[in-house]
Amino acid sequence: MMNKKFLYFTRIVCTFLKTCHVYIYIIFRLFKYFKPLSRLKSDRFNFHYKLDKAGLFSIVIFSLILFSCGRYEEFRNSATENYSDTKMQKYAKYMIQGKQLYTTHCSNCHQENGDGLGKLFPPLAKSDYMLADIPRSICAIKNGLKGEIEVNGKTYNQAMPALERLTNLEIAEISTYIYNSWENEKGMIEIETIEESLSNCQ
Ligand code: HEC
Repeated sequence: MMNKKFLYFTRIVCTFLKTCHVYIYIIFRLFKYFKPLSRLKSDRFNFHYKLDKAGLFSIVIFSLILFSCGRYEEFRNSATENYSDTKMQKYAKYMIQGKQLYTTHCSNCHQENGDGLGKLFPPLAKSDYMLADIPRSICAIKNGLKGEIEVNGKTYNQAMPALERLTNLEIAEISTYIYNSWENEKGMIEIETIEESLSNCQ
């Protein structure tokens, strides 16, 4: 509970800093601008062309904001929005690894964008078949899949080869990736889920 409140708080602060940073910067500069009024005119003239303390400070703060607040933005969806920072870190790692593994092992058939290919390879993007049953997909990745299936109203009947050499961690990463890409939003899929699902394959 405490954790959730803290997360909420940091997100507000981050949003505030992100949107208001430019104004903070302008105010900062204005202060700097009015201060040297008493000095020589040439001094003030130079001011705009130098990377002074205000500029440097601004850049440092802005990078910090971008780094600490914006890191996970691209991985967030409705299922992951309440993840703690540690979980978000793990989830982001799974998404990045998962994408690589997907490109190597799956995208030849299901395509980079998850749309599948004609009547041969079913889509994974918004696939009702896949979204309805996570353990079934996990078993399909490890053991392959054959026989007639229906995906989004179309029937498919080809064989998907088994990928027995994938480790449970790799399957967790691939699963997390396919279940949180292309508008699929199922959240993180943990190794424990993979272990449990694989011990119950049909
Ligand atoms: C050689 C082509 C091929 C490769 C590689 C392949 N698949 Fe498939 N996949 C298929 C086919 C064909 C089917 C449909 C099987 C059937 O008709 O029973 C399928 C079905 C599926 C399904 C269930 C149907 C759906 O669209 O929801 C999922 C999920 C899936 N594949 C995920 C993956 C993942 C993840 C990988 C990579 C680890 C992968 N596949 C690699 C060909 C492939």
